[in-house]
Amino acid sequence: MAKAAIVAPTDNAIAEAAALLRNGRLVAFPTETVYGLGGDATSERAVSGIFTTKGRPRFNPLIVHVPDLEAAEAIGEFGERARVAARRFWPGPLTLVLRRRPDSGIALLACAGLDTVALRVPAHPVAQALLRAVGRPLAAPSANRSGRVSPTTAEHVALDLGGHVGLIVNGGPSEVGLESTVLDLSGAAPVLLRPGGVTLEALEARIGAIATAVADPTRPRSPGQLASHYAPRLPLRMNATTAVPGEALLAFGPQAPPGFAEVLNLSPRNDLSEAAANLFAMLRRLDRPDFAGIAVMPIPEHGLGRAINDRLRRASAPRD
Ligand code: TXA
Ligand code: MG
Repeated sequence: MAKAAIVAPTDNAIAEAAALLRNGRLVAFPTETVYGLGGDATSERAVSGIFTTKGRPRFNPLIVHVPDLEAAEAIGEFGERARVAARRFWPGPLTLVLRRRPDSGIALLACAGLDTVALRVPAHPVAQALLRAVGRPLAAPSANRSGRVSPTTAEHVALDLGGHVGLIVNGGPSEVGLESTVLDLSGAAPVLLRPGGVTLEALEARIGAIATAVADPTRPRSPGQLASHYAPRLPLRMNATTAVPGEALLAFGPQAPPGFAEVLNLSPRNDLSEAAANLFAMLRRLDRPDFAGIAVMPIPEHGLGRAINDRLRRASAPRD
């Protein structure tokens, strides 16, 4: 297949992308978290194409994107807690796992055969425009090869999936930079399946205590919990305070330890949102064969730091 076209998000480009999507084709588009590889969530064929293109295991279900709460209510069963969370955090980086309505119309493959569905209303204006133009829900995982670092620019998508996706709509760098928070509200008690762009603290302030899914890599409750994920090619070392010869450093805060082959700083002013926005792009920039590995300074385990550390732990997990 020819190299993917990166196009500016003009009205014409949105209309072209919507037409492709209605024909079962895949389009990469920007969201405020990361770029998504979108396909018609009601088409088994389109959804199947997403799994093939990403090289993603088919037991790992996809997030279904819709333009608003009303469209989401046609697909998932909302209880009071889900409505409170949706009203507060949508549009935005929150995904709700809910029981799937029998008449949802969503391709079973998108939910990996589960009786639940993951729903998200993205805030990015280009994602919103595209969803409204298509008029159908879009299944969209991050637009990278399965297991690799998620894309936060159109160029990242082109590098990863260039030959395999017809169109990449450019919406600039993703503002949040980390995937959405995945919150399971399908059972009696809320469970955090993936920390992300909405902090646990902010969620708990709205809906009360949230349990954290016990990470059992052999039986992932959210298949995104698979241990090795979001991985650069180089080995990654967390909580680094001193240099190892040849390593590159991902620093955080005003003072970086000396002796590293190269240093990029996630946020010299200790700002976790700035660090989240920089994380994936900087990991990619340091993922060069002339370094021995990537070391990362300690990141505080609160707020967005929880999601940053989650991605770093997966990136440093043993690979299979
Ligand atoms: O920010 C995001 O969420 C991005 C953008 C494109 O919206 N999308 C994204 O999708 O990160 P993906 O496919 O890379 O991650 C989806 C996560 C996975 O961890 C998956 O296991 C979980 O959501 N998931 C999806 N459906 C689920 C379900 N029914 N039950 C439990 N977990 C589910
Ligand atoms: Mg992903």
